Amino acid sequence: MRKVNVAIMGLGTVGGGTYDILTENHEHIKRTQGVDVRVRRVLDRDRERVLGKGVPAEAFCESIDDIAADKEIDIVIETMGGVEPAKTFIIKALESGKSVVTANKELISKCWYELEPVAKAHGAGLYFEASCVGGVPVIRTLTESMQANRVCELYGIINGTTNYILTKMTEDGISYENALREAQQLGYAEFNPSADVDGYDAMYKLSILSSLAFHTSIPYESVYREGISRITAEDIKSAKELGYVIKLLAIGRRDGNRVEARVHPTFVPQDHPLAGVRGSFNAVLLTGDYVDDIMLYGRGAGARPTGSAIVSDVIFCAKRKTHDYTDFGISNKADAGIELATDFSSKYYISLTACDRAGVLASVAKILGDYGVSIGTILQKGSVGEHASIEFLTHTASEKAVTEALSKIEKLAPVRSIDSFIRCL
Ligand code: HSE
Repeated sequence: MRKVNVAIMGLGTVGGGTYDILTENHEHIKRTQGVDVRVRRVLDRDRERVLGKGVPAEAFCESIDDIAADKEIDIVIETMGGVEPAKTFIIKALESGKSVVTANKELISKCWYELEPVAKAHGAGLYFEASCVGGVPVIRTLTESMQANRVCELYGIINGTTNYILTKMTEDGISYENALREAQQLGYAEFNPSADVDGYDAMYKLSILSSLAFHTSIPYESVYREGISRITAEDIKSAKELGYVIKLLAIGRRDGNRVEARVHPTFVPQDHPLAGVRGSFNAVLLTGDYVDDIMLYGRGAGARPTGSAIVSDVIFCAKRKTHDYTDFGISNKADAGIELATDFSSKYYISLTACDRAGVLASVAKILGDYGVSIGTILQKGSVGEHASIEFLTHTASEKAVTEALSKIEKLAPVRSIDSFIRCL
């Protein structure tokens, strides 16, 4: 029986869930996996909460040095979150030859290229399944199940908070502000919800996932990011009328040496498999050149699902004598020869408010036509006083062309405002 001692750094929600699994399922894991995992140390600022979880007092510690110096510890689990002090602690653990399992997407996406060389130099493992999509084994699927393929596309709903908000807006017809308030009351969204609603959380995850999927560094700064705070009840209603639902999608694509990585609200056709992913659930659709589509669905957050991914990494790591590292030149910059796309092609939903009088529609359509943007569907909704709302769905067009056309349209005297501009799948 392989005996493995672990330390947990940070006994908050995810660390607590991890501790629960390791204690409650200890015998099950021992029996089925042949690994006897013991929690030897718990590092936290709050002694009371650690003891309150039933951790023996002698396991509590406050300093990373206690963990780094303890030769009995094999694996360090980091569930503190944020960049510092997690980064310093992880480096100390790796330098003392201990493997690290982390759930920290921000740290991995920002500092992977600094952490991995330290792990490599000390023969330690660095595992982070829990950093992306909680309990859904998307990293393991990419690295251990799809190796035979060139992965060419990745579409994901990888943030549960925004999916909850958009689902409430769609199903209950409520405003963004009210849906956000509900998400906060349920503990999905933070008091400051920016990391989720502005797309940062999904951006970090997409940078990690697309780097692994496409075997090349996709720095998080190169991921196009747009959040959901400008989505209105009107947009949701229009999407429904046109046969779509709005989702915050993370999209990665590789075509030869050209790579796209973007996070933004998207009109998703109602019959698309991602359209049915409701509430706080997550899903990722991966396309490989031989396997075709694989879709993974599940809980992307929470103590138990995220703890499940962490414990899976602990077991995976414990069973290995040597560890794998990235097969590409990990860096905070794009690899040489890779073109990170700054222009995309898509269909677009555009809505604008303009004076309801003869010739206005023609002048708007003319500008779109001048930029090579072809209109697929057009709707005009009842006059609001002297104004009307005009909505378009374009055919596939370059984003650069559409945004340039819109900046001209915005300047037309009869046009009061461009209200929405949303990409369609
Ligand atoms: N806040 C994230 C979400 C979970 O709502 O999906 C952690 O990444």
